Amino acid sequence: MSFQGKVALVTGSTTGIGEACARALAEAGAAVMISGRHAARGEAVVTSLRASGAHAEFTRADLREDGAPDRLVADTVRRLGGLHVLVNNAGILYTANGPDTTDAQWLDTFAVNVNALFYMSRAAVTHMRTHGGGAIVNIASEWGLNGEPNHVAYCASKGAVVQITRCMALDHAREGIRVNAVCPGEIHTQMVDDILAAKGGDLQANLRDLAAGIPMRRLAAPAEVAACVRFLASAEASYVTGATLTVDGGNDATAGPYP
Ligand SMILES: NC(=O)c1ccc[n+]([C@@H]2O[C@H](COP(=O)([O-])OP(=O)(O)OC[C@H]3O[C@@H](n4cnc5c(N)ncnc54)[C@H](OP(=O)(O)O)[C@@H]3O)[C@@H](O)[C@H]2O)c1
Repeated sequence: MSFQGKVALVTGSTTGIGEACARALAEAGAAVMISGRHAARGEAVVTSLRASGAHAEFTRADLREDGAPDRLVADTVRRLGGLHVLVNNAGILYTANGPDTTDAQWLDTFAVNVNALFYMSRAAVTHMRTHGGGAIVNIASEWGLNGEPNHVAYCASKGAVVQITRCMALDHAREGIRVNAVCPGEIHTQMVDDILAAKGGDLQANLRDLAAGIPMRRLAAPAEVAACVRFLASAEASYVTGATLTVDGGNDATAGPYP
């Protein structure tokens, strides 16, 4: 699986799953654009990728800002010479049920998880359709396929990501642009630590409890999601579009709590 000569843009690649995706694509030869709000973290990722011989750049972007998605795509094309792969990974989560979800939390969730993802995709497709096609991989969630108590805004936003994926896959199927989604389950990143911290109690004990309910009895490392993202972005997945790939240790295969 080679990405030699390809340019990949990964949103939210200053940490977590996004950083792992950028690393996986760079290891396969892609030039990668790292992006997020935190410049120090982003520059550290770039330094580490360059140390292993990759071509990597960082652009700071808060994707909630007007025009930021368009500017990020344009900046990537200008600095790296094109855009062949977009990984829409940036995402946020608030823990709250309906009545406790504030307007600000609802709007923030949709601004990052849905609006920015769509604006990024629109800008990328506009470039790709006149430059030989490309691949978009959206990071949705198993919580975009199933409900989860106390996460109504997040689940709704990730459900929207699945539908954006399907619709854009259909719209661009004849233009050489594939659009797919990955639905991660429990991946050990800061996001999961934050969810568990909100529950209170001992973090390690909470992690063990969480793992005990997963068929594979463990959380995943970000690299395990990144490997699937890289596959969907690659020529190996040339006939795959509109798909949602669960990467969840078997969670979505069960109808209830796993015994
Ligand atoms: N971890 C899991 O178990 C899990 C499960 C299912 C789905 N997911 C999804 O996977 C994706 C990555 O999650 P993660 O676990 O790696 O979370 P994370 O460690 O919290 O990383 C989130 C990334 O999103 C970026 N981001 C957040 N708000 C942004 C904004 N306004 N503008 C630009 N970038 C922004 C952050 O960069 P800055 O802080 O630098 O802005 C960071 O790089 C998310 O879409 C998440 O919903 C995660």
